[in-house]
Amino acid sequence: MLICRTVAEIRQFVRECRAAGKSVGLVPTMGYFHEGHLSLMREAKKTCDAVVVSLFVNPLQFGPKEDFADYPRDFDRDCAMAREVGVDAIFAPADGEMYPEGFCTYVEVTGLTEKLCGLSRPGHFRGVTTVVAKLLNIVAPDRAFFGQKDAQQALVIQRMVRDLNMWPEIVVLPIVREKDGLAMSSRNVYLSPEQRRAAPVLYRSLCAFREAVERGERDAAKLRRLMADMIAAAPGAQIDYVEILSVPDLEPLDKLRGRCIAALAARFGKTRLIDNTIVEV
Ligand code: PAJ
Repeated sequence: MLICRTVAEIRQFVRECRAAGKSVGLVPTMGYFHEGHLSLMREAKKTCDAVVVSLFVNPLQFGPKEDFADYPRDFDRDCAMAREVGVDAIFAPADGEMYPEGFCTYVEVTGLTEKLCGLSRPGHFRGVTTVVAKLLNIVAPDRAFFGQKDAQQALVIQRMVRDLNMWPEIVVLPIVREKDGLAMSSRNVYLSPEQRRAAPVLYRSLCAFREAVERGERDAAKLRRLMADMIAAAPGAQIDYVEILSVPDLEPLDKLRGRCIAALAARFGKTRLIDNTIVEV
């Protein structure tokens, strides 16, 4: 597995893949891999001849009071895990390689980014779309792989790619969970044992939502209350939002119709966790 630190090196690798007639898949990540990340790499491996994983903790998508400095990092462990899955190249640039002196160009998706996580994390999605646009330009993959775990991020990236006529196909893959239902996340390591025990309530509230919808409940306010009450009753949980919105436009709904997402964010102490589920009504 090749490790590239510069844009020139990864471009050279991709050029060689193309010359050999290979298709290229890209899995953008911030590292500290878990099964969620590996599921994206495995799918990329299945459907592309060469797989590039980018590993870059993107300072632009963290707010000034967020966890950029503390974000978990373990480059050697990540490389060993990626190698095991058969990843062909890791692109792990330094901050200055991605944002050189004088950098002043940003990509911003409007509307879709002004709700859910966009409200409590101003500037976050601008950081995400800017870095993903750069990664798609640098690697120029045939396909890029993202997780449903970050549902709003996936919708925002799909919209950016559509609106800017970017080439790659965006593939979105299901949420990988721990045995007790907690969505895997690099941030789960921040949880204390008590918080870790309480956190699966997020998943259970989404299951309760699905069951209620299956029983015929269509009232969005009632369904939101069902989820919010469950989460609020868990020790140490502080709700950031519980929303039911249309997919892919993320418009508010009174009655569930068509494709709908139940999306939530909650804090356990300082750790903010998100989860979601999509239903077809
Ligand atoms: P990161 O949080 O490292 O996640 C990288 C990719 O893994 C994202 O597409 C995310 O949705 C996916 N992922 C994370 N947890 C998952 C889970 N439990 N199941 C399935 N997929 C999961 O998301 C980012 O990095 C960054 O914002 C990035 C897109 C790399 C831009 O910096």
